[in-house]
Amino acid sequence: MMATNQRIWGFESNFGGLAEIAVVKANQLMPKPAHLTWAEAACNALCNSTSYRMIVSRNGSHMTQGQAVLVWGATGGIGAYATQYALAGGAIPVCVVSSEHKAQLCRSMGAELIINRAAEGYQFWKDEQTQDPKEWKRFGARIRELTGGEDVDIVFEHPGRETFGASVYVTRKGGTIVTCASTSGYLHEYDNRYLWMSLKRIIGSHFANYREAWQANRLIAKGMIHPTMSAVYPLQATGQAALDVHRNLHHGKVAVLCLAPRQGLGVRDHELREQHLTQINRFRNE
Ligand SMILES: NC(=O)c1ccc[n+]([C@@H]2O[C@H](COP(=O)([O-])OP(=O)(O)OC[C@H]3O[C@@H](n4cnc5c(N)ncnc54)[C@H](OP(=O)(O)O)[C@@H]3O)[C@@H](O)[C@H]2O)c1
Repeated sequence: MMATNQRIWGFESNFGGLAEIAVVKANQLMPKPAHLTWAEAACNALCNSTSYRMIVSRNGSHMTQGQAVLVWGATGGIGAYATQYALAGGAIPVCVVSSEHKAQLCRSMGAELIINRAAEGYQFWKDEQTQDPKEWKRFGARIRELTGGEDVDIVFEHPGRETFGASVYVTRKGGTIVTCASTSGYLHEYDNRYLWMSLKRIIGSHFANYREAWQANRLIAKGMIHPTMSAVYPLQATGQAALDVHRNLHHGKVAVLCLAPRQGLGVRDHELREQHLTQINRFRNE
């Protein structure tokens, strides 16, 4: 990841993976989980690896058992894997979402502490230039109410400008804010007193190295972490798929069929699939 010529395939080196033939390095290939369809297997590669590095890896927050983890967008592309990693690793996710349906998805994954940011109406910015520390405090108080008085050890950050000030504020003394994106704006502002005096760390994280990607894929293949595919689009509707994600109308991941002629193909381990069918289909819309 540190190499000057490091590039993420499909993002920094070429324009996505929707092609009949794609050229990749042999060591970028990973085994397809045998119990998943082509679409279910494809939708994990980016976000599952990214969340693994951010949450589990020593290069990220290196979460340990019992830690409280604030997950923004807890049913979104990366967030739904982060929620799963927190639960699977014995941590306590505090899931932030924007609808009751998403809150229900979090509960069905096993999360108990959920904040519906839309229902509770947090406004971290008074206007485009000014944040509102009272709202950070209200958010922090709500987290403590849910956790029984504790602050979060880790914040899984990606909304960026809109939430970063609040994220730094609510992190526990000595805790970690791990960030991989700035969906709402790249220029973050936070009150540095809450960072330095409370010995907090901000960690930048980008995708995953080969080992992290491999480990994350292995967990999917073993049925310990599950795909979050909600909808499948035909190739001609790729634009619509991107638009639905852009408008935040989706849940988890959406898939586009490229070479597979129809949904449901590619499963080789039916027994393992049967064991995890509920989890595999948890995010499906229909
Ligand atoms: N660096 C990397 O390697 C890497 C890898 C993958 C993704 N990313 C980036 O990470 C970001 C998230 O990706 P994703 O696939 O998870 O996207 P996504 O599926 O759209 O999910 C993001 C979720 O974040 C929440 N959110 C969006 N704007 C917000 C705001 N202003 N305040 C609070 N919450 C907000 C929304 O959840 P609610 O509405 O339910 O709260 C949304 O569902 C994107 O910017 C993406 O480009 C980076």
